[in-house]
Amino acid sequence: MMEKSLVLVKPDAMERELAGAIIARIQAAGLKLTALKMLHMDRAMAERHYAVHRDKPFFKSLVDYITSAPIVAAGFEGEDAVERIRKLMGATDPAKAAPGTIRRDYGLDVQRNSTHASDSPENAEKEIAIFFRKDEVFSQAFTKGA
Ligand code: RTP
Ligand code: MG
Repeated sequence: MMEKSLVLVKPDAMERELAGAIIARIQAAGLKLTALKMLHMDRAMAERHYAVHRDKPFFKSLVDYITSAPIVAAGFEGEDAVERIRKLMGATDPAKAAPGTIRRDYGLDVQRNSTHASDSPENAEKEIAIFFRKDEVFSQAFTKGA
């Protein structure tokens, strides 16, 4: 299945200038970069993006963290993009992430784990719409060199 996924380079990774390295790893694995921007999320945007975690004990801390510095948002597309990117990223807790994964290599702790990636094609569509206007996402037209 051709799928989309939304990746965020979180503040801990931004602070260590890892945005390029993280995006390059995902591209090198064969996923196509279709959208890219740097932005500073406000609380409303963060609460929308992480709405599913609203009732979790870590919610306020997570919103504080994700709004603490500018981040990079990237759209990707490819066969089974959701699962492939989740696998490249590794488990939520970097200490439990498999060797060679992005979070194992760069993550600091369970919150400051360097990246976000969509966990389903449905959520990918919703998340991409939070970060990008339609005319900021380049898929088919870009592939054909239009
Ligand atoms: P993400 O949504 O960012 O791709 O991460 P994920 O699916 O692996 O993890 P999820 O359960 O969706 O949690 C979202 C983010 O919340 C922070 N978190 N903190 N303190 C904690 O126990 C805790 N648990 C999760 C992490 O930043 C996690 O990526
Ligand atoms: Mg998640």
